[in-house]
Amino acid sequence: MRMTKPRMGEKTFYATTPIYYVNAKPHLGHAYTTLVVDTLTKFKRQRGIDAFFLTGSDEHGINIERAAEAKGLPVRRHVDQVVDEFKTAFARLGVEYDRWIRTIDPHHEESVQKLWRILEKNGYIYKGNYQGWFCGYCNEFKDVDGDDEHPGCPIHQRPLDRLSEESYFFKLSEFGRPLLELYESNPEFVQPDVRRNEVISFVSGGLKDLAMSRVSVKWGIPVPGDPSHTIYVWFDALINYISALGWGNERYQDFDRYWPALHIVGKDILRFHTVYWPAFLMGAGIELPRTVFVHGMLLRGGQKMGKTLGNAIQLDVLHRYFTNDQIRYYLLREVAFGQDGEVTYQGLIDRSNSDLADGLGNLASRTLTMIRNYSGGVPHRPEIVQTGDAADVPRQIKESRSRFDAEFNALNFSRALEAAWAGIARVDKFITDHRPWKLAKDPTARPELERILATAYEALRHLVLLVAPALPVTSREIWSQMGLDGDPLQINPNETTWGGALEVSKIDRISPAFPKLDKEKIMAEIESDNARPEIAETKTQESTTTQPATTESATPPAAQPITIDDFVKVELRAATVLEAERVPKADKLLRLVIDLGETQPRQILAGIAQHYAPEDVVGKKIIVVANLAPRKLRGLESNGMLLAASVGDEDRPVLATFGEEVPNGARLK
Ligand code: MSP
Repeated sequence: MRMTKPRMGEKTFYATTPIYYVNAKPHLGHAYTTLVVDTLTKFKRQRGIDAFFLTGSDEHGINIERAAEAKGLPVRRHVDQVVDEFKTAFARLGVEYDRWIRTIDPHHEESVQKLWRILEKNGYIYKGNYQGWFCGYCNEFKDVDGDDEHPGCPIHQRPLDRLSEESYFFKLSEFGRPLLELYESNPEFVQPDVRRNEVISFVSGGLKDLAMSRVSVKWGIPVPGDPSHTIYVWFDALINYISALGWGNERYQDFDRYWPALHIVGKDILRFHTVYWPAFLMGAGIELPRTVFVHGMLLRGGQKMGKTLGNAIQLDVLHRYFTNDQIRYYLLREVAFGQDGEVTYQGLIDRSNSDLADGLGNLASRTLTMIRNYSGGVPHRPEIVQTGDAADVPRQIKESRSRFDAEFNALNFSRALEAAWAGIARVDKFITDHRPWKLAKDPTARPELERILATAYEALRHLVLLVAPALPVTSREIWSQMGLDGDPLQINPNETTWGGALEVSKIDRISPAFPKLDKEKIMAEIESDNARPEIAETKTQESTTTQPATTESATPPAAQPITIDDFVKVELRAATVLEAERVPKADKLLRLVIDLGETQPRQILAGIAQHYAPEDVVGKKIIVVANLAPRKLRGLESNGMLLAASVGDEDRPVLATFGEEVPNGARLK
């Protein structure tokens, strides 16, 4: 068995994201891993390393088949559509990957079958019978605690059936020792340590052979020589990391150049990447990945953001209010990479305002404005060797740069950015301490003024290079406002020296790189978006396992079916709209006064103004959630929520009503 080769000075770099399931549209959780890998490969390339960034789509299995069925589309049409949505979403975020692998690509299928044959030839695959607990509603086998004699489906809360199905197996049980040796001898293999310990403890508990095929699943890659069986989706999916480089197929010749990879994955798919994947590779005698780095989950309200809970931040909402750089910076800076992190719109606005607008943006505009106003737009060059406190600025820049690089290479993005911002703070203080606006009034202080501005300009130049991978759009913008040529992403900060000659064109176009965000206004608009019933997400069930293997994602409580006791908590009542008017400065909101059969009419706000004029709804009978806690939108209190169906691609709201006369206040149950 070959282990990871020693790394002799990095010339090439290969980083991957997981490949995304195409059963739902992309949200911020998916964008997270992708933006991280994009930033990381930009960082490596900027330092002259030949970096390759792979992402793609995981398109086989029963869940995908079901998603297509739910849409009434042939599976191929469905997967093509969702892959397009993912690609468009990533392109809109400014992601630049080198290759997109699809598990339906013929060259991928070729590699999967080739690896299967090698494992079979090496004696690691055998045919047997899979015995397991099956949920007829989910149509899949469930992982059940060994002692449980009457297990139920965690999703449907109904008893599971004991079923048996012919299946091929992989002798995972033979890999316990080699895997433990791998984790021991190569602590880099699973990172961070908390995940490494988790895997060690899992493998130490003993490994069972892994079911590798299903006869009842058709949408997938057939087992070579036995097409009645379809290959386990995770085996199929993991191989993407090498098939995309041309291992086992003739399509590409990149395997020798780039492998081994740094895999970046979420903690929900830890076991697949750190147990199954290295075992498959060991069994076939293929070099192992360099590192599997496991990040935490983006949370909202303390829960994993995702389709299951319907609590994901939707990318189109983000794009409505924020730029790509604001989003990218916030994710990298706010969440300690490797740990879970709560993300909020408020946090995004605060970070953008404090770090970007008031931090980097302000430093850039004050420096450039002073050079334009006091030096005719032509920056002087600083001395290569500086003295006094001016010497402290290049010292801080150097320190920021080396900390930035060390932290970035260790994937501590948040701390890397903190180091860069320590540089920004130092330069800001330097400017404030020397008060160039005062010096400008004194002709004898001219040399001193030029020295201050030259130092600030030079520091800004170095800092912009440093932050460019995390702020690819605005770093280019600031660079060009600085009168500098070229693309900061293609200039290696570590080969950029302090002072010396430089070609700079005259500075005359200065505009704020990061406009200040109006928190109250944006929050009110986002809230009124949320108040639109048509954009409230349908809470659907999500299952990550489509095969008779272990599942790692427990279904969160909020996604479970509710009982009648839960339902009766929701007080749905009939009401008539008495008055309706638009809410000033909120183009989506209508303020309604409704008769709910109570002593007093009530006020509610509804996000339907783009589809219903006030006069269309006055007199209408509607259905209202009457016991929703009051909340304020645009300073107005809403005491309930009306119900509407979401119709068509644009999610047009259609008000729910009755087929016959119903008195106000009548309860729906
Ligand atoms: N198809 C598998 C991966 C196969 S890789 C050989 C899969 N797909 S996924 O679409 O469900 O998830 C892809 C990635 O998105 C995972 O790394 C997952 O952790 C990540 N995220 C999905 N929601 C997330 C958050 N809320 N937060 C952070 N990452 C999240 O699993």
